Amino acid sequence: MKDRFLPAEVLKNMDLSVRLNRLQLKNPILVASGTFGYAREMSAFVEFEKLGGIIPKTVTPAPRPGNPPPRTVETASGMLNSIGLDNDGFDQFVAEKLPWLLTLGTSIIVNIAGKCMDDFPRMAEVLDGIPGIAAIELNISCPNVSGGVDFGTDPALAGQVVKSVCQSCRLPVIAKLTPNVTSVVPIAQAVAEAGADAVSLVNTFQGMAIDWRRRRPVLGNILGGLSGPAIKPLALRIVWQVRRAVQVPIIGIGGIQSLDDVMEFLVAGATAVQIGTANFYNPGLANQLITELPEAIQSLGATGPGEIIGCLHTQTTSK
Ligand code: FUM
Repeated sequence: MKDRFLPAEVLKNMDLSVRLNRLQLKNPILVASGTFGYAREMSAFVEFEKLGGIIPKTVTPAPRPGNPPPRTVETASGMLNSIGLDNDGFDQFVAEKLPWLLTLGTSIIVNIAGKCMDDFPRMAEVLDGIPGIAAIELNISCPNVSGGVDFGTDPALAGQVVKSVCQSCRLPVIAKLTPNVTSVVPIAQAVAEAGADAVSLVNTFQGMAIDWRRRRPVLGNILGGLSGPAIKPLALRIVWQVRRAVQVPIIGIGGIQSLDDVMEFLVAGATAVQIGTANFYNPGLANQLITELPEAIQSLGATGPGEIIGCLHTQTTSK
């Protein structure tokens, strides 16, 4: 990095593209699965073609009704959700939602979840045959479903899922990991060794809300996943820990709502970021952050995002 300042025109045209192994994105700002629906509802607020990518709501092989209501509750600087992977199923997604998503002029990363190991490669194989998909994100980290195998908390199982998907399709593969483990590092290591092009860090933290007057849990499912600014320091910590220990590109997620937040994740070691909960109250945020990003990159004396990823100084000065 050099100490230099770029003229306004150069700044406006800064190359913001980033590469995560086989996945190339036009810029590092994506919108997170489960916070952007299947994009149609965002049409009035978002210039899709400017986004680094869109990750639609998780799809599962069969339709799922999701968990009983209430399924969301606001908490201090965050929200809990217990949606339970409500979706119309893979076939309906492929037939009715995906074709339109693929016209939006940005990278579409399809997010899939399965109940058993074979579900993942089966869906991946179908996606492999559809031109235009940028990558697959494997949701092995939803805290709101039970009855299936908990792939994301066991390094061996997580690695197996990734390996089976990599063997059944040629698309770049991203593993979305859970923070609800003692350490994310061994799981990131396992999925990287199994062939993941990147890891998304992190999905929501399991939590609960209580209505003490009624002596009842607020959520119909009792437990839910916490997201929003409340989790940002925790997510940053995990991004930094994985960055130090594992050679795999990271997509940072966790309470991003400002340019400072984006920069913190990049400096901690993320190659890209996903905007999640903030989409619910400011759907235009991702577009705005992309416009603002070049100036922040330049303020560090860099000419593109690649120069600042993981540039955190951690040496302390002794007194
Ligand atoms: O419950 C849900 O649908 C959430 C999914 C997730 O956090 O991955």
